[in-house]
Amino acid sequence: PVQVKKICCIGAGYVGGPTCAVIALKCPNIIVTIVDLNKARIDAWNSPDFALPIYEPGLVDVVKQARGRNLFFSTDVDKAIEEADLIFVSVNTPTKKSGVGAGFAADLNYVELATRRIATVASSNKIVVEKSTVPCRTAESMRTILEANSKPGCHFDILSNPEFLAEGTAIDDLFAPDRVLIGSLQTPEGISACESLAQVYSNWVPKERILTVGLWSSELSKLAANAMLAQRISSVNALSAICEATGANIDEVAHAIGYDSRIGPKFLRASVGFGGSCFQKDILNLVYLSESLHLPEVAAYWRQVVEMNEYQKRRFSKRVVDTLFNTITGKRIAVLGFAFKADTGDTRESAAITLIKDFQSEKAIVSVYDPQVPHDQIWQDLQEASPLVPLDTIKKQVSICNSAIEACKNAEAVVIATEWKEFKEIDWEEVYANMNKPAFVFDGRLLVDADKLRKIGFKVTTIGRPSNTD
Ligand code: NAD
Ligand code: UDX
Repeated sequence: PVQVKKICCIGAGYVGGPTCAVIALKCPNIIVTIVDLNKARIDAWNSPDFALPIYEPGLVDVVKQARGRNLFFSTDVDKAIEEADLIFVSVNTPTKKSGVGAGFAADLNYVELATRRIATVASSNKIVVEKSTVPCRTAESMRTILEANSKPGCHFDILSNPEFLAEGTAIDDLFAPDRVLIGSLQTPEGISACESLAQVYSNWVPKERILTVGLWSSELSKLAANAMLAQRISSVNALSAICEATGANIDEVAHAIGYDSRIGPKFLRASVGFGGSCFQKDILNLVYLSESLHLPEVAAYWRQVVEMNEYQKRRFSKRVVDTLFNTITGKRIAVLGFAFKADTGDTRESAAITLIKDFQSEKAIVSVYDPQVPHDQIWQDLQEASPLVPLDTIKKQVSICNSAIEACKNAEAVVIATEWKEFKEIDWEEVYANMNKPAFVFDGRLLVDADKLRKIGFKVTTIGRPSNTD
């Protein structure tokens, strides 16, 4: 196998950035260059005061140690491609918005453009690695493009190496991954390329955690893993509705079922609905794949995971309105948290966006606070959620605050949308003193101690618990 000395990563986003920064940290003998067309993003990665474009605990430390040593960020895509032995393609693969498969299929335009660029620029052999999450058999299309456009004598090996990091814990996940998955063609060249990449990871990942499989299995495993994780959340959220109607407590139910070692305790936390850039997109992708393969029953099965998630968000908004005496018109609702989960500034598919939109259509006044999400991002998301409403009109109904205490001032209700630890620790006595009475708390994340809040005087509604015990 080729010993990898130079790596290029195309795409300096949530995956390419942290993943290749960690490779650089752990492999000081490999030069890693992360490139992107987005100059502002690259400038932020290079910023002297480490104001990186994404917030991720531990990331700044990694970049501080490796940047300038063997880790570089650049907009010179061609140069980095030309010099590298191994190229990660880590560009975005969002759900298609128009055309065939709109609303379901992955938009592979960015993957294709990056692949074409590699073919055009490369003048020596390269190992090309799909890092982006892609539908099963995308590697075949990449190979066709590469082979049809390459310079004579240039050989490409294609690997699939999906990324399993979760935002908010990306650095820990990369330092100690449950597994690294590498898929290759089972030809001598494919297996040799696979060994080259496995060697890179073996600098810090134990051998038994590096799984090597066929290309198509690798691609499908990524979609399957996300679909099954999301399925657990939709399952527990479906049960939370039964709990609310019966008097069972979802915390106790999840605890009890999670004790079964065959089920396990993780990813059973009921919530206001899962968000993030991956789950919905990847399941819809799987649904589309199933439909294209003429497997409508399989498609319907996975589609239900997303439908249950939509239902969970709608159900939560409705519960807020119902509890506030069937109207929130003109009432101030404080929304705590805007990111799709704690410890990230990422808002893609965040449940908070849907909730705020629902509150807007009920003509409530909303004040939002999130410790990490930039204000501009919140405005952009709310504008995208209501494209027909002018931003000025949105700004009359929604304000963004700089602290939880400020957001809750004069509110009728507090809605916890993200499980930021600081929301557990706010001075709830002070919050109560400054709210209209009765003061309501809606915990969409099973975050706060409901009994403690009730003692202060709050009326507390929690996901997965019946209202009449609140
Ligand atoms: P992102 O949007 O944060 O980053 C992608 C970057 O690629 C952008 O900065 C974009 O400018 C750049 N780019 C696009 N086309 C390019 C081109 N031709 N040349 C150079 N740069 C180009 O996306 P992300 O969240 O990092 O996700 C990347 C992929 O990884 C997706 O397929 C996603 O499904 C997958 N993934 C994401 C996560 C996650 O937690 N975000 C986890 C696992 C897998
Ligand atoms: C996910 C996968 O976990 C990761 O392996 C993959 O690489 C990318 O997609 P991510 O979306 O970053 O990662 O975060 P994750 O921790 O999976 O959370 C996704 C959403 O599910 C969040 O909104 C989170 O709050 C929610 N969630 C998670 C629950 O509602 N309940 C749970 O028990 C766990």
